Amino acid sequence: MKEAFTSLAELYAPIQGHLDEMEARLSAEMESHHSFLKKYTDHLANYRGKRLRPALVFFAAKAIGEVGPAHVEVAAAAELMHCATLVHDDILDEAETRRRVETVNRKWGNERAVLLGDYVFTKAFEMVQRTGRDDLVSDLIASAQEICLGEMLQIEKRFDLGLDEPFYLSMIGMKTASLFRFCAGAGARLAGGTAAQVESLRAFAGDVGVAFQIIDDCLDLVGDEALVGKSLGTDLDNGKLTLPLIHAYALRSPEARKEIERVFREGPRSEALRNFLLEYDSVEYAVSRAVEYVEEGCRALDALPASPALCQALRLGRFVLNRKW
Ligand code: IPE
Ligand code: IPE
Ligand code: MG
Ligand code: MG
Repeated sequence: MKEAFTSLAELYAPIQGHLDEMEARLSAEMESHHSFLKKYTDHLANYRGKRLRPALVFFAAKAIGEVGPAHVEVAAAAELMHCATLVHDDILDEAETRRRVETVNRKWGNERAVLLGDYVFTKAFEMVQRTGRDDLVSDLIASAQEICLGEMLQIEKRFDLGLDEPFYLSMIGMKTASLFRFCAGAGARLAGGTAAQVESLRAFAGDVGVAFQIIDDCLDLVGDEALVGKSLGTDLDNGKLTLPLIHAYALRSPEARKEIERVFREGPRSEALRNFLLEYDSVEYAVSRAVEYVEEGCRALDALPASPALCQALRLGRFVLNRKW
């Protein structure tokens, strides 16, 4: 699994032209004749993320055939869907920083953030609908529903130390991996992939998505806020159980668990719980599970013909493991 760290620029070099087209489409789509919107859309334009989801659309397409104009629309739509979920997620997490700038909720309050997120959500659907592909509209609807359900389950299970690893994995499969699956599946479908090829690419992307969220959850505990560019430590503060804590809790004696339950209930959580995770190498354990997911995902691509694009897709899988932001 080990390979020299790949920068995003290097990783994206073969699809940079498509990503540039997507950026242009994103800017055009966010323009509106309602002038009051401009301050919000300008703010979102500063929200420069890693663009992993659009990259998956393009790599999946190239692993099967050619990239066409519909891929650019769908890639932009996926990024908008992602952006909308982040605007809403930051309200839920009471986060202050996102992509190195203030969150929408911090800058303008929750009311505007709810509505801006809703607006951007609908833009994503509008863009996919314009491709004329009802199958992709249905896929995006399914993915959006899964994202919402995953986020809702997370709220339902806040502070619930009974949440175990299988539950956590299925929850992040919904809230995060579903959009990864959508991206690879749409890329492959639009390029004319067979049902089996589409399924292989969706399986790959889903596993990478799960690994991606596991790493994100580790970064929330041990990452460097200046590097990651968003508020960290919010998971424990908000009672969100993630894999390192689930792992450490499962290993503790019944008496020691009581102590954890107390700290988790009464706080202050971050410091005490972080020490407890260190004791059991729980972050290392979580990272090892992420590695297994990426390995499994890569195996799902065995059936596809070897190509430079497939190779880049595999590198993207490894990138999510090594990322520091
Ligand atoms: C952050 O996703 C949200 C999660 C699903 C954990 P990214 O880390 O891909 O965010 P950006 O797009 O690069 O900002
Ligand atoms: C991911 O969860 C959010 C969505 C999938 C919508 P997080 O809460 O971990 O994402 P960050 O850390 O705020 O980016
Ligand atoms: Mg969050
Ligand atoms: Mg996070």
